[in-house]
Amino acid sequence: MTHVQLREKFTKFWKQRDHKEVPPIPLVPQNDPTTLFTGSGMQPLVPYLLGEPHPQGKRLYNIQPCFRSQDIEEVGDNRHTTFFEMMGNWSLGDYFKKEQLAWFWEFLTEVIKLPKEKLYVSVFAGTKDLPADEESLQIWKKIGIPESHIFKYGVENNWWSRAGAPENMPIGEPGGPDSEVFFEFTQVPHNLKYGKTCHPNCDCGRFLEVGNSVFMQYKKESDGTFQELSAKNVDFGGGLERTLAALNNEPDVFKIDLFNKIIKVIEKYSKKSYSNDIYKLKMRVITDHLKGACFMAQAGIEPSNKEQGYIMRRLIRRAMVKMMELDIVPLKIVEPICTIIVNTYYPVYFKQNDFIKLTTIIGEEIDSFELTVGKGVKILQNQPLINGKILFDLKQSYGFPFELAVELLKQWGKSINKLKIKQEFDTEFKKHKNLSRTSSAGMFKGGLADHSAQTIKYHTATHLLHQALFDVLGDSIKQEGSHITGERLRFDFYSSIKPSYEQIKKAELIIDKKVKESLPVTLKIIPREEAYNIGARSFFREKYPETVKVYFIEGYSKEFCAGPHVKNTAEIGKIKIYKFEKIGSNLYRIYAK
Ligand code: ALA
Repeated sequence: MTHVQLREKFTKFWKQRDHKEVPPIPLVPQNDPTTLFTGSGMQPLVPYLLGEPHPQGKRLYNIQPCFRSQDIEEVGDNRHTTFFEMMGNWSLGDYFKKEQLAWFWEFLTEVIKLPKEKLYVSVFAGTKDLPADEESLQIWKKIGIPESHIFKYGVENNWWSRAGAPENMPIGEPGGPDSEVFFEFTQVPHNLKYGKTCHPNCDCGRFLEVGNSVFMQYKKESDGTFQELSAKNVDFGGGLERTLAALNNEPDVFKIDLFNKIIKVIEKYSKKSYSNDIYKLKMRVITDHLKGACFMAQAGIEPSNKEQGYIMRRLIRRAMVKMMELDIVPLKIVEPICTIIVNTYYPVYFKQNDFIKLTTIIGEEIDSFELTVGKGVKILQNQPLINGKILFDLKQSYGFPFELAVELLKQWGKSINKLKIKQEFDTEFKKHKNLSRTSSAGMFKGGLADHSAQTIKYHTATHLLHQALFDVLGDSIKQEGSHITGERLRFDFYSSIKPSYEQIKKAELIIDKKVKESLPVTLKIIPREEAYNIGARSFFREKYPETVKVYFIEGYSKEFCAGPHVKNTAEIGKIKIYKFEKIGSNLYRIYAK
């Protein structure tokens, strides 16, 4: 089965069960300070999972492109990829466990016809504070799954929230127990390296998770306890690529039609074979990372040293190092690979000519990295004494790969104690990792995801700012994204002329005036075309469903938005723009609080 057929079958299945399609959101989510990328299909649905009415109703589905930067280091085995598509369906307080588990089973075994005897399921075993999911267990038994194919796991495997385990969830975050389905590749022998016995969550590669039904029934409270949500929701996510792998009884996802053409190009340009284990890992990294970079370029990201741009830079550079190790000239392979990616996903995510844009963006980064490598070589040559810290700094500052440095030092005949240098490098790396973990944990502190009163105020203030910028700078401006936490709001926009200090000040004064006018904020659910006709502001990167939610600030602003917002602008209080900067060509960023 091809990915095109699988998409069709999934779509048809949920449509027949009265589900409406929610259009996929951009790879860089809007108004969501918790993550750099869209990492699951439920991301735009958080307000609705918490109780806001959804304009399209209570039964939804979609196929969402996702990127998980936390998986970069995992790429190389038979199943991890940073970029993937998630097939999702949701019940917002409508059906629950009984229907969801039975329907997903029907989809797997009757629609796409996976052999029942190769499927396994898991349920939540419970903790001392959270009850076991006895209901799902009974439902699976009733469906006819033999007990030997049902496994119980704790929070590490069968609890889902965007922040992971219950203790990591920020206040207000929804989550709940989940039930996963796994496919067994009986031809893959268990590897004892991963434990004495194999089981669905074993990492040896014999089992592959194909879908996860999360029962979003709790919300974390400020005292750390969990409150049952009034409406119980289903949040299902299944990997499109993994389902295809199972369908083809192919334990290596890189061999399915969404990857194997890229692998073939790599084989051609490197004159090496994927079947050789020495090259396999490197080829998988190149394939995954370039694909991720293409989707990022398509989402408007460019390589840089910050946030999404930094991740994109890392992907391209890591792919380049592997290309060099395979004796591939990076610039030669970029165009054929971008062309394949565009053709594979045309017309779902790309237009035919998009390969030109992708090749240019990725090609420029390759050029600049080649210069960087040149600089790094000079620095390395001038070091009288080499230690792991120097190599780590080279990597951090110039992206100069450790293995390449060791290789060059060997070639220059410099004697090095590789083991010691390696250890020193690891120590620095760990220090750095701890630092970045602390700062990314900080990302969960505030923000729309936790729906704190302050965040909601900033969210409405962002709508005022958006309209105020139109008033001051004219119709050429375009919102490029926003990022709202409990501490401040951030708003990025495109403007063909550079805004002056006075203009920004003027926007601030307008916000102040609109706050003082105590304008009511109301919400209407209306057809998309009507929303466009009345001039509601939209985010040009987002595809909207046929029916949309529009927030009105009386007499002043109208904007496509999921909410939530304050009821009246008077609640916002004083807003001050404290930073204004240029972040790219014609791109500007405002911070306010
Ligand atoms: N949101 C769930 C996941 O990402 C379905 O696994």
